[in-house]
Amino acid sequence: MIVSPEMIDRAAGLIRQGELVAFPTETVYGLGADATSDRAVARIFAAKGRPRFNPLIVHFADRDALRGEVEWSGAAEDLAARFWPGPLTLVLRRRAGSRLSLLVSAGLDTVGVRLPDHPLAQSLLQSAARPIAAPSANPSGLISPTRAEHVRASLGDAVSAVLDGGPCALGVESTVLDLSGEAPAILRPGGVTAEALEDVLGRLGAPPLDGPAKSPGTMGRHYATRAPLRLGAPDAEAGETLLAFGPGAPEDALNLSKTGDLAEAAANLFSMLRVLDEAGSGAIAIMPIPERGLGRAINDRLRRAAGEVEKHHEVDENE
Ligand code: TXA
Ligand code: MG
Repeated sequence: MIVSPEMIDRAAGLIRQGELVAFPTETVYGLGADATSDRAVARIFAAKGRPRFNPLIVHFADRDALRGEVEWSGAAEDLAARFWPGPLTLVLRRRAGSRLSLLVSAGLDTVGVRLPDHPLAQSLLQSAARPIAAPSANPSGLISPTRAEHVRASLGDAVSAVLDGGPCALGVESTVLDLSGEAPAILRPGGVTAEALEDVLGRLGAPPLDGPAKSPGTMGRHYATRAPLRLGAPDAEAGETLLAFGPGAPEDALNLSKTGDLAEAAANLFSMLRVLDEAGSGAIAIMPIPERGLGRAINDRLRRAAGEVEKHHEVDENE
C-alpha cells in the first residue's frame, strides 16, 4: 500500500505518454488520462464503454493551473476557498483558448473541474504537470471503485498503472455543481452536502426536472448491481439479503453503520454492495437512510442502482 515517489513519477510519465493511470481520490478511484490530449481522453471513453455525450471531470493540482481553462466567478472563488481541495466539482464555462481536449466537454460549452483532496492524487497531478481527466474507474453503468482491487478486477487490462492508496475515505463521488447558468444548481449530490453549499451560496433552488439533462451522466440506470435492490426495507423477506443501517438491525446483517453515522455509511456503501452482489445474493433489501447531509448522495446512488430514477432522455442501456 506504500506508494513511493518513484512510482508516482513513473505513473506521471505514463500519463504524459497518453496512457491510462488509475489513482485514488478522497471520493472514489479515478481513471486518469492527460486532459490536454484527445487521444488520451478518447482512451478513457473506450476503456469504460462510456457514451461520448457524457463529459468528464478534469482534476487540477492547484487553482493557478485552472487559469486559462475556465471562466472564473465570485461564486466559484467563495466555493473554492471553502471546499477545495475536496469533493466538489464546479461546472464552469470553458475559456476560448483552453488547452483541454474538447472531448472532456462532450459537446457542451462547459468543463467540470475539481482539486482532489488526496496526497497521491495531488502528487500525481504535480508530477504529471498537466490537468488529468478522470471519471470513476469503473466500466460505465457499474458501481464506482473505492479500493484498488475493484479497479484491477474490472479495468485491469486497460490501465497501465494503478496507484494503490487503500480504501477511499469518503466513498461517494464529488458533488457536481453547475455555475454556468443563471443560478447555481446541484447536478449530482455528493461529498459536499447541499446544506454546506447553502451556507456559502444561500438557498439553492430545486434542480430542473424537465428539459434536456444538464448533467448527461446522471441519467437513470447507473451504479448497477446484478442483484435487484429494494430500498427503504425494514427487514429482509424470503430470498433477500439485508444491507442494514443503524443500531437495532439484526446482528448478523452487513451494516453500513451500526451507529447510524452517514459518513461511515457513505464510505462503506459501494464496497458492501459489491460484497453482497459478489456473494450471489438473489436480491438485496436495504434499510432506510435519512435524506439529509451525505444521506442525499447515498440515496441518490441507491435509487439509480435500483433503476428508480427516470431517464431524462433516451440513452444507451449500458450507461
Ligand atoms: O468524485 C468524483 O467526482 C470522481 C473522482 C474520480 O473525481 N469522478 C467521477 O467522475 O465521479 P464521473 O465521470 O464518474 O462522474 C462525473 C459526473 C457525470 O455525471 C458527468 O455527467 C458530470 O459529472 N459532468 C462532468 N462534466 C460536466 C459538465 N461540463 N457539465 C455537466 N455535467 C458534467
Ligand atoms: Mg462514475
